[in-house]
Amino acid sequence: MPLLKLESISKRFPGVHALKNVSFGLERGEIHALVGENGAGKSTMMKILTGIHQKDSGEIHYLDRLFNPRDPKHALEVGIGIVHQELNMMDHLTVAQNIFIGRESMRSGGVFLDERQQNRRAAELFEKLNMNIDPTETLGRLTVGKQQMVEIAKAVSHDLRVLILDEPTAALTDTEIDELFSIMRDLRSRGVSMIHISHRLDEIHQITDRVSVMRDGEMVDTRNTADVTKQDIINMMVGRVIYEEPKTENRVGADAEVVLRVRGLNAGKLVQDVSFELRRGEILGFAGLMGAGRTETARAIFGADEVQSGSIEINGRPAHITSPQDAVAHGIGYLSEDRKRYGLALGLAVKDNVVLATYEEFQKGPFVNARKAEQRTREYVDRLNIKTPSVDQLVRNLSGGNQQKVVLAKWLIRNSDILIFDEPTRGIDVGAKSEIYTLMNELASQGKSIIMISSELPEILRMSDRIVVMCEGRITGEIDISEASQERIMEYATMRSQETLARS
Ligand SMILES: Nc1ncnc2c1ncn2[C@@H]1O[C@H](COP(=O)(O)OP(=O)(O)OP(=O)(O)O)[C@@H](O)[C@H]1O
Ligand SMILES: [Mg+2]
Repeated sequence: MPLLKLESISKRFPGVHALKNVSFGLERGEIHALVGENGAGKSTMMKILTGIHQKDSGEIHYLDRLFNPRDPKHALEVGIGIVHQELNMMDHLTVAQNIFIGRESMRSGGVFLDERQQNRRAAELFEKLNMNIDPTETLGRLTVGKQQMVEIAKAVSHDLRVLILDEPTAALTDTEIDELFSIMRDLRSRGVSMIHISHRLDEIHQITDRVSVMRDGEMVDTRNTADVTKQDIINMMVGRVIYEEPKTENRVGADAEVVLRVRGLNAGKLVQDVSFELRRGEILGFAGLMGAGRTETARAIFGADEVQSGSIEINGRPAHITSPQDAVAHGIGYLSEDRKRYGLALGLAVKDNVVLATYEEFQKGPFVNARKAEQRTREYVDRLNIKTPSVDQLVRNLSGGNQQKVVLAKWLIRNSDILIFDEPTRGIDVGAKSEIYTLMNELASQGKSIIMISSELPEILRMSDRIVVMCEGRITGEIDISEASQERIMEYATMRSQETLARS
């Protein structure tokens, strides 16, 4: 008898049959990958298991008994914890306060919160997990990756038999992923079972023992990881073949017109003396380790952060950009990596979100041309395969990856000449990824210019005409795609740290 068994679970939401008789088993001490396209039903299944949603039918067996999770607290009490796909924490509280929220350390008497003790306990936890995080720091000041690590530490701080990780690695740096994997291996050796949801298919062979594939609300199959290849998994997920070929030549000549020229840009610690040029029709990849300053550079150009010095020219003319509105007026669009915070109105319909950025285009006098807006939205819902019962569905009700596609649609529709995409395919399934690549290539061949920030080297190599590499706030290299390789990029990406090491 497995530790946990889901039998024939079904769940409907209005207009969506999210789970259709899904069965799933989890053994003691295994790491079990759960994969499937965006909207396949992965998170829904986990939310049923943790009492966030109630199933319509089916049975859950846990520890040889029937288990009906009432709410997340109930699940935690019996040892089932989850790290959600969306960050679920309070930005304004400290790291330690977030970890112990609802179970704060009390001084004897139980009236006063003992901050010191709480901070000490958090520090011990981080030490045990080998995480370098200050418990007294305000959460909102950490990078998204670090916030994710805090969330993982919080889950692990409970005494768990089952740990569910819903896309824990999407926002993590490579080093953080390594840290997470060693934490997971350690938990496994202590008999904890884990369900690992990820769209980074390369991870599956690194860390999991078995893999279950879902498609359209159904369970396709469960296999031993060692018995399947990545391609087998993709085939089970999407039921069709997806070609991935790297770009081999720069389609844009060195003589192409420069649309964006950045000179000597300085903005805080992570943007130091940044200079580069973006040409018409070019896809310029920005590579580097996380924390290299790529997002900060994008934000500085977009007017989202204060700039100390430097100049920006657009189409040969000086541009004074001090706010995102200025940037948009200059034809710059920025798809932020932190989509939840900057990209979406969760309480609005899909079509309203898509149209928000393009208000002017659909405005007719004082009215928004609703028909046109809807038509364009539908077109992109189709192309990106956004899984939603209709364009009127609230964005809140879409799966994580489909929410991301909505943000993407919003910026793709918008008529910007310069587009900055920050981690455009994070959390997006393989099929939709290749559709996004096609769309980006189309935009480029229409004469739009694209800066693509990506931490996935295969994506950089596949899409870029030229690659700029950053490290610790500076540009350390520029490579034409014809001469690029993962090794060369990594060399530049770690350049400064090596120099610094050599000097010390
Ligand atoms: N609260 C809700 N109300 C309505 N529909 C919902 C709700 N939650 C999920 N859905 C729908 O159920 C389906 C499955 O969603 P789910 O979040 O489980 O997908 P997923 O496999 O986790 O995808 P992703 O990889 O994008 O995170 C989707 O069509 C989604 O829109
Ligand atoms: Mg999900």
